[in-house]
Amino acid sequence: MTQATPDVIRPRFTRDEKARKSFTSSLRAHVLGTQARRMREHYDEVVQPQFQRTHGRLPADGQEVRSVMKRERDFHFFSSVRSCAQEMVFASVIPAVERDMEELASRASELARDEQGVGGSLTLDPNFQVPENVTRLDVHLAPGSFHAEWGDDDVSAGAIYDSATRVFAFRQFGDDMNDIGMTMSNFVRLRYPDFKPTKILDCGCTVGHNTLPWATTFPDAEMHAIDVGPGLLRYAHARAQALEIPVHFHQMSATNMAFEDNSFDVVFSSMFLHELPLKDIKAFFKEAYRVLRPGGLLINMELPPNSRTEPYQSFHLDWDTYYNNEPHYKPFRDQDYPSLCVGAGFEADDCIEVTLPRYTFVGEEEFSQSVHKPAVFDNSTGRMNPKGTRWYGFGAFKAGEKA
Ligand SMILES: C[S@@+](CC[C@H](N)C(=O)[O-])C[C@H]1O[C@@H](n2cnc3c(N)ncnc32)[C@H](O)[C@@H]1O
Repeated sequence: MTQATPDVIRPRFTRDEKARKSFTSSLRAHVLGTQARRMREHYDEVVQPQFQRTHGRLPADGQEVRSVMKRERDFHFFSSVRSCAQEMVFASVIPAVERDMEELASRASELARDEQGVGGSLTLDPNFQVPENVTRLDVHLAPGSFHAEWGDDDVSAGAIYDSATRVFAFRQFGDDMNDIGMTMSNFVRLRYPDFKPTKILDCGCTVGHNTLPWATTFPDAEMHAIDVGPGLLRYAHARAQALEIPVHFHQMSATNMAFEDNSFDVVFSSMFLHELPLKDIKAFFKEAYRVLRPGGLLINMELPPNSRTEPYQSFHLDWDTYYNNEPHYKPFRDQDYPSLCVGAGFEADDCIEVTLPRYTFVGEEEFSQSVHKPAVFDNSTGRMNPKGTRWYGFGAFKAGEKA
């Protein structure tokens, strides 16, 4: 069953706009593929040997690699093109969303009325204070960050994110933009066949790209998803309704959830933790522990920690911290992930860590063979690499038998 965004909720792009989107995607693929490889060659052939000559040793971590790469023209070029491409991602979709804004809002309202009886829901909180990590800056250079609203029923933030992420991902998130959710949910299904979740929560769901796979992988489970952006949530709800996948969306902070203790079997997040300052990451882990039932699983898809990546790779993966308005990225990646789980109440022995091939790319058979294999860390792990990507996940089971 496809989970690609249906036309009813998508803006219409002119031919010129389509060409701009296509160019921007290709530019991103080029800079993150060919250009990144050339920069690595330059490092291996010139920069690292020079460092070794002057220091008598190799760089110890990503910060030391960064201190020398910052002087290199290859890096200036890579960073400039990557930053420009990031701005172009949004510039390539915003005009169409602005043009269709009112129509999209009215279509979303119609879908939300649920005349077709899908059964999903949307709960917005009129008194909700969007947290500062979202409001203080245009996160990853998206104009308006995640929360801007232009009217009562506005869905622009969601429409922009949905279309922009397709441009950004240059097909690396799968044809339906749901590969991360497909990979993580099918990992849980195949790795733990006796674990049958009946209630699942996705935190920081944005427009639900990676929420919906959980609902289809576990069709008997009740699916909930939270985010802080009202326009994202309206859009996510309308999109799920149009795809006839029942999900309950809530405007809520993952650091302070309104759900009862012991109420979920799975708490999932993807590309979420790096958006939070450390104190909020710790608050989220405590909340995840609280709302999980005994025997339940917290599983987060993220970039691997700096302790797992070699110095050059750490330097490469921390790029967004400095140049993409994502200041919490490196502080998060500097954490010991199992310690975050243990600090929230999970037992050290119940922590898990996985690296997985992409489910929608390799298919069920090859994927099912990989779910028992130990984690692998190389330049494909966690990184959008046109030559291949392996998603990284970590988390923990909450001790105790399932109630
Ligand atoms: C990079 S996006 C996550 C992408 C999404 N999980 C996916 O897989 O497509 C980060 C999301 O976290 C949300 N967010 C930020 N702080 C939050 C918080 N305290 N509680 C819940 N959501 C939050 C943002 O609004 C944004 O939608």
